[in-house]
Amino acid sequence: MTAVQMLAAISEIGRDQQRGGYSRPVFSEAELELRAWFTREAASRGLDVEVDRNGALWAWLDAPHGKRQDVVITGSHLDSVPGGGAYDGPLGVVSGVDALARIKERGHPQRRALAVVVFPEEEGSRYNQACLGSRLMVGELDPQKARALTDAEGVTFAELAARHGLDPEHLGADPERMQSIAAFVELHVEQGKGLVHMNAPVAVATSILGHGRWHLRLEGEGNHAGTTPMDDRRDPMVAAAQIILAVREEAAKIPDARATIGNLIPVPGGTNVIASAVDLWMDVRHLDDAVVRRLVRAIEARTQAIAAGEGCSAVMSENSYSPTVTFDRQLQQRMQELLPGAPLLPTGAGHDAGVLSAYVPSAMLFVRNPGGVSHAPAEHAGDADIEEGVLALVTVLEDLSR
Ligand code: GLV
Ligand code: MN
Ligand code: MN
Ligand code: MN
Repeated sequence: MTAVQMLAAISEIGRDQQRGGYSRPVFSEAELELRAWFTREAASRGLDVEVDRNGALWAWLDAPHGKRQDVVITGSHLDSVPGGGAYDGPLGVVSGVDALARIKERGHPQRRALAVVVFPEEEGSRYNQACLGSRLMVGELDPQKARALTDAEGVTFAELAARHGLDPEHLGADPERMQSIAAFVELHVEQGKGLVHMNAPVAVATSILGHGRWHLRLEGEGNHAGTTPMDDRRDPMVAAAQIILAVREEAAKIPDARATIGNLIPVPGGTNVIASAVDLWMDVRHLDDAVVRRLVRAIEARTQAIAAGEGCSAVMSENSYSPTVTFDRQLQQRMQELLPGAPLLPTGAGHDAGVLSAYVPSAMLFVRNPGGVSHAPAEHAGDADIEEGVLALVTVLEDLSR
């Protein structure tokens, strides 16, 4: 089965009838089904599958007489955002399996072991911690903090991990594994129109914008929608509406900055109830980390002023931050030599390769997305472009494993 056929084979798993697209939160029924599918598919191609201490899956194509040292890895994730597309994550996983199978079939003389890795909770859809698995592996996320993370149903990550055969006390940094990695190349659907504009199927990634998540808690006074006069309210929803506009205004002042309120939760959330509180989740990105900080400070000042004007209080806290990433320059250069015509492209999206890049030489390949839409059902990559992506990945992995 090629990557295209593998995507077709999993196309019914985790469909979201309400939102459209796919909802595949980490360790949900859908993601577990995908993990089981990956394990079977990889094993059927003679790859040796293991689960690491943080729940990542590794499918190995060992070198004939080599050890799992100095290894070259590829892969991505199988979890999705709510109502996401079919490609963000799975494309990198199935392309990895396809590439390793082709390398094996051709009997490429491999000096280094190769593996396809599937990282858990890349999107942070369940625990609001993007790249949870890779951050644990590199030692950036305190396992104690990870264990205590709680999902919308009140299930802690420790409980969830234990339910799925992991030892919660064993979560965390995996220095031995990290030291064994010579390079990581993640293939991903492009999440913009760069390749459409450049008229090319595949690009080599240069950088990732610095990005983070902030939580804003607004508190006012819960009350009755029918009996409370309009001039006697402390309605945090009204403050939230103004803050959303202010976020757009502040971001628009800075070239190439991005700021988004993508999630708003009124408490208690009833049509005939003036909310007592609102939780907002904000995502801010820019290529310059200092600019992100400056923008967030400006938004915070606007937030405080708006909340005060509505008789509400506001508390803003940083949930996570990923500094700007520049992918390994030597790897970028080598990949451009190997893939003549492949343009260089930066991205605003976060990836496990971005997390690993601070520790091991990391790189990414992007596959053209005709509409440029991602994190939404319309996300797409054409069959011919996917095939080009797999061929590019084979070329790069063969070179790096030689
Ligand atoms: C993940 O895909 C992100 O960039 O938020
Ligand atoms: Mn994503
Ligand atoms: Mn992704
Ligand atoms: Mn991502």
